[in-house]
Amino acid sequence: MVSIADLRRLARRRLPRMVFDYIDGGAEDERTLRANEAAFAELTWRPRSAVVHPQVDLRTTVLGHELSMPVILAPVGSSRMFWPRGESEAAAAAGAAGTVYTLSTLSGTRLEEVREASAGPCWYQLYLCGGRDVGLAAVARAKAHGYSALVVTIDTPVAGMRERDVRNGASQLIARRFPDVVPFLPQVLAKPGWLIDFWRDGGLMSFPNIVLPEGPMRYGDIAAQLAAAAVSWSDLAWIREAWGGPIVVKGVHTADDARKAVDAGADAVVVSNHGGRQLDGVAATLRVLPEVLEAVGRQVEVLVDGGVRRGADVAKAVALGAKAVLVGRAYAYGLGAAGREGVAKALEILRTELERTLKLLGCPAVAELDRSYLGEPLAWPPSSRA
Ligand code: GLV
Repeated sequence: MVSIADLRRLARRRLPRMVFDYIDGGAEDERTLRANEAAFAELTWRPRSAVVHPQVDLRTTVLGHELSMPVILAPVGSSRMFWPRGESEAAAAAGAAGTVYTLSTLSGTRLEEVREASAGPCWYQLYLCGGRDVGLAAVARAKAHGYSALVVTIDTPVAGMRERDVRNGASQLIARRFPDVVPFLPQVLAKPGWLIDFWRDGGLMSFPNIVLPEGPMRYGDIAAQLAAAAVSWSDLAWIREAWGGPIVVKGVHTADDARKAVDAGADAVVVSNHGGRQLDGVAATLRVLPEVLEAVGRQVEVLVDGGVRRGADVAKAVALGAKAVLVGRAYAYGLGAAGREGVAKALEILRTELERTLKLLGCPAVAELDRSYLGEPLAWPPSSRA
């Protein structure tokens, strides 16, 4: 396993198609999913040669946390379907690697247990599944158990149309309606290793951090769950008041929304298109990053996600001005392939690639990366050089 692409192949081998495609796929034609990755390829390097830095410093700080590298684990729903207690396993690997784990609302493991699994900082990502009171209860639990930032995702008024999930029969399998499930069973039966792990872990997960009057929300069609979970700007005020700590607004695509997020009290924003899983056809996040930095980069920390598959991609985002990146698929492939060890491997791959990239660039530290190291295509927005 030398690259994230290798972990992806291993995940594809172990996971049923419907689980692998939930991780791997995006909305509709997957244009934005591809664009996110392609944008990194469009940026080229301008290294400083004959400069030797035997040690390079990868550390950065985000919202007051010192991180061992500018890579944070993004919220990824349904991680318990990838590996038993997947959220705890990923959190443990993140903490051991000296970085942040972000727990999705749509998770299968109790937030208390996940927090305990990590020696590092954890953030809680909020969707308003079940409405305001259910959201408030989750916020109170996250606060009481030492989550250090709340990540509010704003790009999900409905779920994007992930056609792979529909074709794979994800909702039929989840609803377990006989005989509708029959055509979709072979993909699950073809992966006995996963199936055994799945049954040993208690079978189909529920959402223990979304506690409805009748108990934890049952696992269901992710599209329906997301549509019932939308956040609007007016929610930010009560969320902020209830939480009382740092807020990260995730899902910013434009300078206007970045300013709205800051006005609503955000301490950081994530330039994100949900990994191309929501509105297909929006621009690659890396292309939007300069506009957002120009608008709010002096007031708040600006993070970015989408398409990061290499340590060099991390360096490019930081050279453009991001404080750090979030990775979703890059670690989720590792989780699906080999659990905690797979996540640890993904982070180690990104770290060694980032370190080697800095040495090849002749750059002593992540904190020294800037646009002078980048050969940008003419069509890219001009530098903000904040
Ligand atoms: C959940 O947020 C998803 O993208 O599936």
